[in-house]
Amino acid sequence: SMGYVDTGGGPGPVGHGVPGSHGEHGSGKGDRAVADLIEDPARPADVRFTLTVTQQGDRILVNGTSPGPVLRVTQGQLIEATLVNSSVRGGTTLHWHGVDVPNAMDGVAGVTQDAVPPGERFVYRFVADRAGTYWYHAHQLSHVQVRQGLLGALVVEPTHPSGPATQDLVAVLHQYDGKPTLNGAPALHADVAPGEEVRVRLVNTDNTQASVWVTGAPYRVLAVDGTDLNGPTEVSGRWIGVTAGGRIDLGVVVPPDGVRIDVDGTTVITLGSSPAPAVVPAQPRQELDLLDYGTPAEPGIDVSDPERRFEYEIGRRLGFLDGRPGRWWTINGHLFPDIPMFHVEEGDVAVVHIVNRSGETHPMHLHGHRALVLSRDGEPTTGSPWWIDSLEVGTGEEFEIAFVADNPGIWMDHCHNLPHAAEGLIAHLMYG
Ligand code: C2O
Ligand code: CU
Repeated sequence: SMGYVDTGGGPGPVGHGVPGSHGEHGSGKGDRAVADLIEDPARPADVRFTLTVTQQGDRILVNGTSPGPVLRVTQGQLIEATLVNSSVRGGTTLHWHGVDVPNAMDGVAGVTQDAVPPGERFVYRFVADRAGTYWYHAHQLSHVQVRQGLLGALVVEPTHPSGPATQDLVAVLHQYDGKPTLNGAPALHADVAPGEEVRVRLVNTDNTQASVWVTGAPYRVLAVDGTDLNGPTEVSGRWIGVTAGGRIDLGVVVPPDGVRIDVDGTTVITLGSSPAPAVVPAQPRQELDLLDYGTPAEPGIDVSDPERRFEYEIGRRLGFLDGRPGRWWTINGHLFPDIPMFHVEEGDVAVVHIVNRSGETHPMHLHGHRALVLSRDGEPTTGSPWWIDSLEVGTGEEFEIAFVADNPGIWMDHCHNLPHAAEGLIAHLMYG
C-alpha cells in the first residue's frame, strides 16, 4: 500500500513477484525469509546482531546511538541480523548497501519486503562473501529515515589480511540537522604510533559527495566501495571525492608529527600521538582521478561480447509524479513509475551506458551487484580495475559500466542523493 513505498507516496512499480517475501510482517516473515536463502537454512549463523531502532523526535537511533554500531564480521561468515522496530513511524527496513545479499534480504520496502511496523521484527540472513567496507541503512522513506540517522557501518574483514595496516578506523560521515559529523562527533582522533599504517574507512552516508584532503603524509587509496585497488601508489596534493553512499579506504603511514584529514573542509580526523592537528592544510586544488589510478590487472569481466547493452540516460522534464506536477527526473525520457525495467537473464554480462543530461550530479547506486567502470566520457579506465556500487555521475558526464548478472531478483538502481530518489530517479533491474 501507499505507506510502504520508498518513494514518498507513489505505488511501487514492482510490488509483487518476489516469492515468499510479500504480504507478511514480523517474526513469521523472518522465518520465511530464511527459507528463501540460497544458503542452507539449517546452517547456524556465525555471528548474530540485534539492531533495535527507536524514533526520538527528528532522530532515529540504532541500539541507542546514531550512527548505529559498527558491525564487524569476517569474510565468509553467515550473518544473522534482527531488526527490531521499536518506534520508527511508518515502518522501516535495513538495506545492506554494497553487499550482494540474496534478493529477499535486500531490505527494499515495497519491493523485497514490506516495511516492518513498530513493535515487529525482521531477520536478515546472508553470507558476507567479499571483504570490504559497507554500510546499512533504512530503505523505507529513506530520504527521511537515513537523514534522521538510521544507518551504520558494516566492515567485512578479510580471512587473510593483505596489507600491513595495524590500525583500522571507521569514519562514518553524516549530517545531522545540517551539521557534518564523523561517527556522530565534530572531530575524530586515533592514537597512532609513528610509523604505523592506518586504514581509514570513510563511509559517506550523506546525499552529496564529500571531499577528503590529507595533510602531513601521502596516502594510498586502498579500496573503493569495498573492493581493493590493484597496486595503489602514494598520493599527495590531491583531494579525493567520496561519492554519496560510497566508501573510500585510505592507507596512511603516520609520521611523528601526525596526520590531519579534512573532510569537506569542516570536520577533521587526526592520527598521531595528540589530537592537535600539526599542520594546516593547503587549499585543495586537484582531484585524484580513479580512472587511471593504481595498476592494471585482469578486470574480472569479459566485455568483448556482452549479452546486454543498456542505455541509461538521466534527464529532467515537466510532468506528473503521483499526480503532482513538477520538473521530475527521467530515465530514458520516462517518469517514475513508468520507467521500463532493465531485463537480464542469469549469467548475462551487461554493459550500461550512463549519460547524465539532467543538469545536476547524481550518485547512482546499483543494488545486489558490483559494477566495473569501463570508461568515462569515452576515455577507458587505464589504472586498477575500478569496481563500484555507487558512482558519481556529474552533469554532462557519460560512463560505461559492466556487471555480471549473477544474483537473481528485482534490484533497484537509483540516485543516492535520496531526495532525488524520492523524486523518481529510480530504475529496476529484473531477472527473467
Ligand atoms: Cu544505499 Cu537503495 O540504497
Ligand atoms: Cu540524483
